Amino acid sequence: MAADANPTPQEQLDAALLGFESALPQVSSEAELYELQVRFLGKNGAVTKLRSLMGKVPPAQRKELGQAFNRVKQAIDDGLAGRKLALAEAARERNLSRHVDLTFVPDPPRPGTLHPITQTRRELEHVFRRLGFDVVDGPHVEAELYSFDKLNIQPDHPARDMQDTFFIARPEHDPREGAPSLVLRPHTSPVQARTMLRHGAPIRIIAPGTTFRRDDDPTHSPMFHQIEGLYVDRNVTMADLKATLYRFVGAFFGEGLAVRFRPSYFPFVEPGAEFDMQCAFCFDGQLSHGCGLCKQSGWIELGGSGMVHPAVLEQCGIDPSVYTGWAFGFGIDRMAMLRHGISHLRHNFEGDLRVLEQFTSP
Ligand code: DAH
Repeated sequence: MAADANPTPQEQLDAALLGFESALPQVSSEAELYELQVRFLGKNGAVTKLRSLMGKVPPAQRKELGQAFNRVKQAIDDGLAGRKLALAEAARERNLSRHVDLTFVPDPPRPGTLHPITQTRRELEHVFRRLGFDVVDGPHVEAELYSFDKLNIQPDHPARDMQDTFFIARPEHDPREGAPSLVLRPHTSPVQARTMLRHGAPIRIIAPGTTFRRDDDPTHSPMFHQIEGLYVDRNVTMADLKATLYRFVGAFFGEGLAVRFRPSYFPFVEPGAEFDMQCAFCFDGQLSHGCGLCKQSGWIELGGSGMVHPAVLEQCGIDPSVYTGWAFGFGIDRMAMLRHGISHLRHNFEGDLRVLEQFTSP
């Protein structure tokens, strides 16, 4: 075509067909085939555009040119269809000749294991279920109301200080009137308030879960775990608390370990006490002689406990003249460390496989 400045319509048609025929063998996929079709037969395709030449030839030649045009179009259609068939056949061949080794045995999948804290939490749940407790849960992003007010924690209590608790900032233009102010719960005790308000007495629950405080040093992590216990009924006494915790220590750490209360203060209990168990790691069957784990004291502190303060019962819709109750809140992470011999709190939360792989699930 380049040799002739004014190619005839027939020459232009021939040139288009030639262009198509040289492009066709290069096509290696259906998508490319479609592109080629569009390039020649599409609305602005090279052959389609030549249709306009019809009007430019003398009427006597029109029929002949029309036939030539149709022949070229037909040739292109046939070429496309043939190539499509060839591509499908080639794909089929490739598929059939694929080599599949049916004798291949892949490495068996490596099942993961439960995190030692999850294992510990489940063991705790198991022990308390057998003692007749239900397991309940509560939100991690919690209302200040349940975290503090309902638990008799006064507005000026240090726990409500920004230094200790993560407060959740509200968007400046929160449209919700009177929306509760929120914190990351600094303890599991708000579940006490929620359960009392929702179910009323009697109650016998534990609430294990994640808690958060603005603490970050080798023996404190900003995210940690607690287990809360709550028992409310008629005539519940401190003796029930001691008996229950004694049974718990026996089932979880080993039978025969002594337990003790030390007077302490928590706003939501009265009287309140720290609860200790005899150190299971230097226990000779009678006495604990002192070791690194109990810092030579023979006792290991598990957490706080006490008789639910009447003001808390009242705040949570339970009549303190009819019902009494006890509660406790212990740290799960330390219990996991004691039980599994984990030397540093940090190992619990770093996700290091060298550590985690040592704890196969039971
Ligand atoms: N919520 C307390 C804390 O995180 C622990 C605690 C103490 C829980 C005494 C209780 C309790 O239920 O009775 O320090």
